[in-house]
Formats: sequence, structure tokens, C-alpha cells
Amino acid sequence: MPTQSLRLVDKKPLRFDDEVRFIRSWFERPLSTGAVAPSGRVLARTMARYVEPEVPGPVVELGPGTGPVTEALVAHGVDPARLVLVEFNPVFCQLLRGRFPAATVIQADAYGLRRALASVLRKPAAAVVSGLPMFTKPVRTRVRLLRDALALLLPGAPFVQFTYAVVPPIPNAFAGVQAEASERIWMNLPPARVWVYRKG
Ligand SMILES: C[S@@+](CC[C@H](N)C(=O)[O-])C[C@H]1O[C@@H](n2cnc3c(N)ncnc32)[C@H](O)[C@@H]1O
Repeated sequence: MPTQSLRLVDKKPLRFDDEVRFIRSWFERPLSTGAVAPSGRVLARTMARYVEPEVPGPVVELGPGTGPVTEALVAHGVDPARLVLVEFNPVFCQLLRGRFPAATVIQADAYGLRRALASVLRKPAAAVVSGLPMFTKPVRTRVRLLRDALALLLPGAPFVQFTYAVVPPIPNAFAGVQAEASERIWMNLPPARVWVYRKG
């Protein structure tokens, strides 16, 4: 049966099947799913724009879900073979393997990043892009994840994180790290903001 589609706040169709998968996942694991719907295209594109496709090395995505940001990264020029996708939910992992056969999909807890990527990442990464619902974790866990991610990245490479919250996912006064934020993206349900962190 062809994939049905529906329109929400964005001009482009969303996959109805993905909406259903997401809502199911949210009912089963509300805290780790962190949203009732996949990110819209405007948010996904905004995240992808912070990645420079010409910078060599793997591009790591944490919590890719059904893959809207992954799709935006590929559309932005990132070779799918460079993608390393770390996702907790086995149903989403299976879906991602089908959709991005050239990518490396790892079913793991992204908060154990070094262990999850130890046997996979042989070069410094060009970017880490995260859709993890960070606010379900204490600040020290978020900060440790950022530190682990920055240690995997090339100097100056971005850690890109979106949030629905009005406050940054990592407290502002975090020594040695530069932070920048996008405008609030209203064309998303719920509206979101993208935060980018780099080693200072
Ligand atoms: C808010 S959704 C974002 C999904 C997708 N990036 C998007 O923008 O639509 C969060 C995703 O992170 C995954 N996730 C949550 N906690 C995780 C963890 N500790 N390790 C890996 N993935 C996790 C969830 O299964 C879900 O797919």
C-alpha cells in the first residue's frame, strides 16, 4: 500500500505511517521518545544547515527516530555512507536500516556515547546532530554527553541539538564551549530552537 501523507504546519507532506509509529512509541516510552510527532521539515533543514558536507569524517546523529533530520542531512549533501545513527528504539532502528541502507545504524543508549561508538568511529567526526529529549536527563548527564561528543569531533565542528524548551539544553556558563542558537522555529509542532555547541 502506498505511504499516505498529511499536511501539518509545513508545506511538504509528512509520512502518516511515521506519525503513527511515533505516537505509538510515545505511548510506550513517553520520556525517551520525547515528542508525539517527528520533526517538521523546517526544523530538520535548520539542523542540517549547521553541518558542512565538505568537512570530511563521519556525521553522527543521536536519536534519529524515523529519520526526518537524517533525510535533511542527505538532502544537504551528506553522503549517507558517512552517517552513524545511534537510536534506542529497535523499531526505529529497523526502519532506519531500510531507509538509509548505506548508513551505520547502532541500537544503543546515546548517553553511553563513547562505548556505543568505540568500535565504529575510526576518524574524528565532522558533526554530531542530536534529537535526544535532553530535558528528561539531569544537567550533569547532559553536560557529560556534550563533553563526550565534543571529544569525538574535529576542532570547531558542531554539536547540534534542538529543543522545544525556552531555555538552552546546556547551561550558558559552560566553560570552554561556544554556544549559538537559531531563531525560534514556529513552523514546527511544537515550536523549537536549535542550539549549536563547539569547543571554544
Ligand atoms: C524527540 S525524538 C526525535 C526524533 C527525530 N530526531 C526527529 O527529529 O523527529 C527523540 C528520539 O531519540 C530517541 N532516544 C531517546 N533517548 C535515547 C537514548 N538514550 N539513546 C538513543 N536514542 C534515544 C528516541 O527513541 C527518539 O527516536
